[in-house]
Amino acid sequence: MALRAGPIATLRTKGVEVAMRILIVGNGGREHALLWKLRRDAPGATIYATRPNGGMLPLCEPVEIAPTDVEALSGFAASRAVDLTVVGPEAPLALGLADRFRAKGLAVFGPSKAAARIESSKAFAKDLMREEGVPTAEYRTFTDAAGAEAWIREQGAPIVVKASGLAAGKGAIVCTAVDEAVQAAHAMLDDFAYGEAGREIVVERFMEGEELSIFGITDGDDVVLLLASQDHKRIGEGDTGPNTGGMGAFAPVSIATPQLMTEVRERIFRPVLRGMARRDSPFQGLLYLGLMLTPEGPKVVEFNCRFGDPETQVVLPLLQSSLLDLLMAAVDGRGLDRLRPRFREGSAVTTVVASAGYPGSGPRGLPIDLDGVPEDGVVVFHAGTRAGATGLETSGGRVVTCTGWGETLVEAAARSRAAADAVKFEGAQLRRDIGWRELARIERADPTGSTSIPT
Ligand code: GLY
Repeated sequence: MALRAGPIATLRTKGVEVAMRILIVGNGGREHALLWKLRRDAPGATIYATRPNGGMLPLCEPVEIAPTDVEALSGFAASRAVDLTVVGPEAPLALGLADRFRAKGLAVFGPSKAAARIESSKAFAKDLMREEGVPTAEYRTFTDAAGAEAWIREQGAPIVVKASGLAAGKGAIVCTAVDEAVQAAHAMLDDFAYGEAGREIVVERFMEGEELSIFGITDGDDVVLLLASQDHKRIGEGDTGPNTGGMGAFAPVSIATPQLMTEVRERIFRPVLRGMARRDSPFQGLLYLGLMLTPEGPKVVEFNCRFGDPETQVVLPLLQSSLLDLLMAAVDGRGLDRLRPRFREGSAVTTVVASAGYPGSGPRGLPIDLDGVPEDGVVVFHAGTRAGATGLETSGGRVVTCTGWGETLVEAAARSRAAADAVKFEGAQLRRDIGWRELARIERADPTGSTSIPT
């Protein structure tokens, strides 16, 4: 498939140039950001998206098929001669979407079911890391609670108990007391608190440090790393309270130095990709690395088999060169090594505005007013929104994510927060401290306060 460089992606088929057809699977903030970027890379393309949210709707052709209905989606893609399918969430990949598409000769950016185990089985990922010599926390896997309890008591707290399977980002419990960890293990293994996902668990030593998210676009062999970002998983300011899918993110992160990125590529991405290929599960797609910078050096917290959410909402707005070219090169298995992504100067910060009750359940169908959101240096990505009978309304826990760009992180954070504050719906909640660790570093480097966050 020959993709022509240029603002309008076209494909040359039998001498005739036709606009590209792209299908995006998924409908959250991450998928809105993917759609936004691909629309900029290929303004002339036809872009389909599954059950698009209220913000995606004006940018795409809606497809009324669930992201997990692999059979119907592959039928749709074949019937419309879709040139490239980009998969947002992990669930369709874990169900084998990419395998089904490839079996029908359809190009898809995303790993096979076997390769998606790097996310869908924490036990598989940990064993892979141990066997390939990739730095990660010491761990054990268990299917019986008595064994788990004995190891937890031997190790002491703090300690982390994880459901091995997919648990919508909620399957990792950081336990500050031994009893809490024992209880978590029993809840997963005996009471099936996480259903199938918790029939096997990973118990691992707690890692102290600061976390980074690093995206690698890979064809299974070569890998292109994008800018490192930092997520804010806790609901409360100062990283307090329960875990969420992510309440905000920023990029770039100063502690992700060029030396660190080289180390990460050579000591983590390369051995993992080689190990996956050796296990007959070559990984093509987006390999997401959750990294902890511990006092003993960088260690892997987790891998995901897809773009991170909300990290995508800060990385893609900073990506100046074509995302589409990177995805196509990964799918083709050629040319990725020649592509060097270019990023714009400055920083991006995104602030999630969530429904009341999030990360628990809460009301839906509430009217949303975005009229007061400033536009300068801001883009609002929709997550849980839908077009209701009388206008835009809430349809999920994370409702929108407001990305602000600026020459400095201070400026970007101020724009993101001002935009998020201007999003109006009943019970809206947000964190006003996204980027706080980095902002504190900036403050320490400039104690005169000339870089203080404007209020
Ligand atoms: N932001 C964390 C994730 O996407 O898994």
